[in-house]
Amino acid sequence: MTEATLATEGKVSGNTWVFPPAFVWGAGTAAYQIEGAAAEGGRTPSIWDTFSHTPGKTSNGDTGDMAVGHYHRFRDDVALMKQLGLGAYRFSTSWPRIQPGGRGPANIEGLDFYSRLVDELLAGGIEPVLTLYHWDLPQELEDAGGWGSRDTAFRFAEYAAIVADRLGDRVKTWTTLNEPWCAAFLGYASGIHAPGRHEPETALRAAHHMLLGHGLAVGELRSVLPSSAQVSIALNVAQFRTESDSAEDQDAYRRLDALQNRIFLDPLFHGSYPADLKADTAEVTSWDFVEPGDLEIISRPIDLLGVNFYSPMLVAAPLSEQDRAEAGDGGDGHGNSDHSPWVGSSDQVRFVRQAGERTAMDWVVDATGLRDVLLRLHRDYGPVPLAVTENGAAFDDELDADGNAHDPRRISYMRGHLVALHEALSAGVDVRGYFLWSLMDNFEWSFGYSRRFGIIHVDFASQQRVVKSSGRWYSDVIGANAV
Ligand code: FCB
Repeated sequence: MTEATLATEGKVSGNTWVFPPAFVWGAGTAAYQIEGAAAEGGRTPSIWDTFSHTPGKTSNGDTGDMAVGHYHRFRDDVALMKQLGLGAYRFSTSWPRIQPGGRGPANIEGLDFYSRLVDELLAGGIEPVLTLYHWDLPQELEDAGGWGSRDTAFRFAEYAAIVADRLGDRVKTWTTLNEPWCAAFLGYASGIHAPGRHEPETALRAAHHMLLGHGLAVGELRSVLPSSAQVSIALNVAQFRTESDSAEDQDAYRRLDALQNRIFLDPLFHGSYPADLKADTAEVTSWDFVEPGDLEIISRPIDLLGVNFYSPMLVAAPLSEQDRAEAGDGGDGHGNSDHSPWVGSSDQVRFVRQAGERTAMDWVVDATGLRDVLLRLHRDYGPVPLAVTENGAAFDDELDADGNAHDPRRISYMRGHLVALHEALSAGVDVRGYFLWSLMDNFEWSFGYSRRFGIIHVDFASQQRVVKSSGRWYSDVIGANAV
């Protein structure tokens, strides 16, 4: 993605926010959430197959076996993208489809599928933006220790090289990992995501091995891809806010910012782990899994930082026991209660429920959080170019009698967040693109099919697609390059 220079000096005319000429408009998905065909084409199980097939792990026992059938319907889906006028499509490749079992030679049938997808996108004038890891670790690698094992980082780099070797002639923008925080902490500590482990120490170890895998993969990608390729990572950078300026509330902020944000950002951009993070987690781990040379690998320069943002979070110092009994649970969606159970900070922080509109995920709608997270990244880690790689909202969309899906609340959510993004642009932040989550309704992890994020409605029984009002609205935005 090239630098997006501002179109007009004033930028805003009346109620119209004009975006820079080179701004990239996209939408995103992930392999396990849409492909289905779980046992076809030589694919072997990932940790999400195992997890979703374990009773009690997902709503309604839903699995990604069929998902939304994209593996067989990809041409129709690309046609819909074209109809919407998308400039780019962010998708992920399935590791166990490309390298069954996570080791050894490539499965050509798997690579062929993504090759056809990329060709179809390019023929439609849509830029493919490829994520190598959106949480579907081959089950065999989990059986050998998963991300808790250092070897997984090396296996990941090997897989990255296989994909780059086949698709690097056509794919220009590459993302190593999607949201390593979720994969490490929801997967290995709170256990609400695959592989569903409850091991605080392993979560920290996993986070480090994911970062190491990222750095090793950056090395492989650089050696295989043309020098014009762009390499990135996508983080769910949290916008934490505090209830007050009190030292106690500020300390809660500091702890959570270290555990979710600086744990990734500091090694990537500064080549070190935050000292306060190490102190806060000293009772959990000695950090002996960080070996000499690792941080040099992890901090290899990247071209772009992907930012996934949905909702800000309000944090505070814990209540006294008595206050706690009176207040009840203060959780605020985001699996926030799952931030806590694993490391030294759990009894020193509290999530406060915020006032305001909520989505079907019970996440508060507050677009200023997006602006603030972009400003913060620019201030503390700049001048790295940014792209919003995920932003969107789930609502209980239904088809009306005429077969249309009207979702005005999603339009309002998107509009608010695009204006907030524009504010960051106007303040000088280098944001190159926006990828709406999600192109279509899909398998929302532990929520199964009960949460709809798409701008395209999917009837999960018939697999029929219908563009929602928000899809038509987004199409107009893209056409006008303005909100
Ligand atoms: C993000 C995930 C994405 C989707 C959205 C709602 O954490 O990266 O796959 O589930 O949340």
